[in-house]
Amino acid sequence: MVAQFNIPSTVIVGAGASKEVAAQAKRLKASRVLLITDSYMEQCGMAGQIIGSLAKEGIATSIFSGVQPDPTDRNVLEGLRHFQETKADLVVGLGGGSPMDAAKVIAILANNELPMSQYAGYHNIHQPGVPLIVIPTTAGTGSEVTKVAVISDTERDVKMMMLDVNLLPTVALVDYELTMTMPAPLTAHVGVDTLVHAVEAYVSKKTNAITDPIALSCIRLVAENLYTAFKEPHNKKSREGMMLAACQGGMAFANSSVCLVHGMSRPIGALYHVPHGLSNAVLFPAVTEYSIPGALERYATIARTMGYASEMDSNESAGLALVKGLQELNGKLEIPSLGVCVKVDLSVFDERVEKMASDGLASGSPGNNPVVPDVEQIVELYHKAW
Ligand SMILES: [Fe+2]
Repeated sequence: MVAQFNIPSTVIVGAGASKEVAAQAKRLKASRVLLITDSYMEQCGMAGQIIGSLAKEGIATSIFSGVQPDPTDRNVLEGLRHFQETKADLVVGLGGGSPMDAAKVIAILANNELPMSQYAGYHNIHQPGVPLIVIPTTAGTGSEVTKVAVISDTERDVKMMMLDVNLLPTVALVDYELTMTMPAPLTAHVGVDTLVHAVEAYVSKKTNAITDPIALSCIRLVAENLYTAFKEPHNKKSREGMMLAACQGGMAFANSSVCLVHGMSRPIGALYHVPHGLSNAVLFPAVTEYSIPGALERYATIARTMGYASEMDSNESAGLALVKGLQELNGKLEIPSLGVCVKVDLSVFDERVEKMASDGLASGSPGNNPVVPDVEQIVELYHKAW
């Protein structure tokens, strides 16, 4: 089997990396920038810092801060309108996965004909977008280095997953100093999302020789740093470790794949607006337990990498230790159960659970899982996580 590996052509990592934005915009010959972000980034002053850095180099910047969590097709179209009206020639995406995903699709739509829905799925984007610089402010989604974007389709109530090499940012500025003020619950949710990226990349049917070591490095970094980052928000070493882990997790899953956790998680986000990392986290232990028989050795390696088992343990007991370890990790990170997250009664949840299961299957991600479930088994797994 051949494997393809795509990441942005420039990735700058380390303290102060975000200050490179003006130099990179100049290198890309930008004359006018549109900054895509959310209202929090504008209020907390981080957007202003980026605009200030660009202004110092004489680059005029407009801002569109209307991206919501779980960005919608409407957010993207509004951002695109700003891009066209301001006659911008470069997009900067600043924030967590939502602003970065919106920025990626805006950059694409600036050079491609509408409608957006025709770009959903795999390899459906014909033209490269305009130059795009992304600056993550959470250590989690890995969107800064991936060729993937997820946009909610407000008409159909589904999340459109787009994967295409044309979605890759031109430049990623990975600066852990921007994550120092992340609140503890967000640190936990996006941190577990990072772990899910690496685990799914490593056990996926699409795993390969390039992504394997990156995934294992990410898993080790999360094991070493996530709980400390959650408990001690000002701990620079753990923030740096998680930022690097997020970047590696993104490189791993985008060039292997995500699997069943992400497949089941997207419908929860689309229907109940549970943040992406949280909906992954609540499903993760149950889905891992279900999937272990399909890739026992790999899950055992993950357990040993996380320190939940040793070389002395059999693969079977390492697998059991992994499920227990992930349940305990959720507990330590104060992650509630699925029922608490969706905030409806089980009877209400059950009215739509079969559609959720078929939407999840239709996304394609569960097909890469070590064990491929049917609709009934997915419904059972939702109930297990309840
Ligand atoms: Fe994710």
